[in-house]
Amino acid sequence: MKEKLQVKDLSYSYHELSGETLALSHISFEVRDGEFLAVVGPSGCGKSTLLSLLCGLLEPEEGAVLIDGIPREESSAVIGYMLQRDHLFEWRTVFSNVSLGLEIQKRLDDTARKELHQMLETYGLGAFQDSRPSQLSGGMRQRAALIRTLALKPDILLLDEPFSALDYQTRLSVCDDISSILRTRRKTALLITHDLSEAISVADRILVLSGRPGRVKTILNVEFAREYDRPLARRNAPEFSAYFNQLWKELRTDEDQTG
Ligand SMILES: Nc1ncnc2c1ncn2[C@@H]1O[C@H](COP(=O)(O)OP(=O)(O)O)[C@@H](O)[C@H]1O
Ligand SMILES: [Mg+2]
Repeated sequence: MKEKLQVKDLSYSYHELSGETLALSHISFEVRDGEFLAVVGPSGCGKSTLLSLLCGLLEPEEGAVLIDGIPREESSAVIGYMLQRDHLFEWRTVFSNVSLGLEIQKRLDDTARKELHQMLETYGLGAFQDSRPSQLSGGMRQRAALIRTLALKPDILLLDEPFSALDYQTRLSVCDDISSILRTRRKTALLITHDLSEAISVADRILVLSGRPGRVKTILNVEFAREYDRPLARRNAPEFSAYFNQLWKELRTDEDQTG
């Protein structure tokens, strides 16, 4: 697999009147084409900052982000972003929510419309195209948010704790749903989560960040036997708890060092 995304020696500080906060320090890693990378780390270690740097909402102070080997700011790659809150507009129907991005970009033609109807059908929202977001369950809303993001045909998908606002039951099934959708479509994706089980159940590799300032502690390869290779099934696989313990230990050593 070739590298889709390369992060090289990235550092970032927030500057405020009250002082400077070093959020990330010398981060390097890569995401291969079609790979699903999860990023875990303690709260406040710079995970959201990292995503903002990757999609260009923030400019790195040091280091570089390359997409297909080209500096991000020169690349024409489309980066999709999905957040904890789904940001669906209540005054628009489900269809006009998922088509919003394309509409803004003036790319909503008949072919695109047809594709959207098709995706809504495939992902169980066919009967809800004319509904309002408030008529959907939490899981359905996240699926709608995903379709809206996928409609823009992103080369890379950045997911910032997209399931954390859902209740536990829903979270399990939505996580299963969404990661299966991404895998089938062979999307390169980076998922931020504070939930270790979630990371193990979806990722090809897991990047562990230290407490602030975030540094790469380790990158863990995650492999499951084929019959377990789906999020809900992975949770029942014999390897699961070994991965969990390994991650837990990585995160714990961090606490011990910082007091
Ligand atoms: N806009 C900002 N201004 C100043 N400090 C910020 C800002 N955003 C985040 N921070 C600080 O930077 C650190 C990393 O934040 P963040 O990337 O949101 O962490 P995470 O997503 O891992 O919880 C935190 O200590 C946070 O308080
Ligand atoms: Mg965050």
